Amino acid sequence: MNIAIIGCGAIAKTRHAPAVAVNPDAVLYAVCDQTRANADALAEQYGARAFYDVNEAITDPAVDAVIICTPERFHCTHVVAALEAGKDVLCEKPLAMTPQEGAQILDAWHKSGRRLMVAFAQRLTAEHQLGKKLLREGVIGKPIAFRTELAHKGVEYASIGGPTPDFYDKHLAGVGDVMLSVGCHRVDLVRYLFDSPIKAVSAVTPTIDKTYADGSPIKAADHAMILAEMENGIQGSIWISWCDYGRPERGTTIYGTEGIMRLCTGPGVVVEKPDGSVEEHIVQQDPDAWQQITHHFIAYLGGKAPICDGNDGQACLLAMEAIRKSNDEKHRVLVEEVK
Ligand SMILES: NC(=O)c1ccc[n+]([C@@H]2O[C@H](COP(=O)([O-])OP(=O)(O)OC[C@H]3O[C@@H](n4cnc5c(N)ncnc54)[C@H](O)[C@@H]3O)[C@@H](O)[C@H]2O)c1
Repeated sequence: MNIAIIGCGAIAKTRHAPAVAVNPDAVLYAVCDQTRANADALAEQYGARAFYDVNEAITDPAVDAVIICTPERFHCTHVVAALEAGKDVLCEKPLAMTPQEGAQILDAWHKSGRRLMVAFAQRLTAEHQLGKKLLREGVIGKPIAFRTELAHKGVEYASIGGPTPDFYDKHLAGVGDVMLSVGCHRVDLVRYLFDSPIKAVSAVTPTIDKTYADGSPIKAADHAMILAEMENGIQGSIWISWCDYGRPERGTTIYGTEGIMRLCTGPGVVVEKPDGSVEEHIVQQDPDAWQQITHHFIAYLGGKAPICDGNDGQACLLAMEAIRKSNDEKHRVLVEEVK
């Protein structure tokens, strides 16, 4: 299975390229970046062919599947082009910038008959996998409410590619805002954990602290507080931030009729019962866990069911559009309304 990676930045270097390189069922055949040095460096490291033009890479007949690792702003163009070229696609999250772009992708996907997956890597986090299994086993009874958070001090301090001090001035426009960059993971995660679409949201998504180099506030949300109602009646809050100047927060607490489950709020998964008992489930930490999504995609190419597909990518974009509308219009919004 010959794979081409499009976009040779941080996520390609740290996650997808190393994962493809060690996967026995795939070959990192090509890498492509409009910045020649980025493509050349990755090509040299993995013995892949370097391309500098996305269309040339994705139409190369030797390429079977494509991993899109360009900034958010280019996902729609690159995913549609790859599907139209008859390639299977793994797209980094989010699937696109808007549900309108998502609809174009779904149209191309359905016409192509190819495979399409979104890299919602947090579905595969060990704590989230165990938490979902315990929920299904009824360990805390019927889930009724949740709180989930994904917050850190901002991309200028830390990201998978290292600190990026010029992020807001140089890269923000290609990325969108804190919801597209970070929040999409949690909008997707609650759908996954509770096996239910989001029905309605009430959201506030302000700019509370980040500035451009000239000191003016960035023209994008850097913080988001969302109340979410799931179709199956579970209700909860989603807290997303680039302005959390302590240690990163990535916990989820789930409230059930027979107890509480805490995922990633400390080590492993913790279950607390009404009688005061506490069960701690230690989770084996795999240092390469973040590469699992790539291995999962390669297994999907081999016939395994995907952990998420284009429909999950679009469901996330619709929920995020409802969040945007709720913030702008200052009222509760049904996701159905933005379809
Ligand atoms: N799953 C995760 O947890 C996670 C973490 C970080 C980033 N990401 C996602 O990965 C994607 C890329 O993020 P990154 O941090 O690697 O970004 P990055 O800026 O480090 O890399 C992007 C690369 O794409 C190249 N590029 C930009 N526009 C291009 C174009 N039109 N044609 C060809 N190449 C182009 C750039 O030169 C750069 O090398 C984003 O969608 C981001 O949200 C996901």
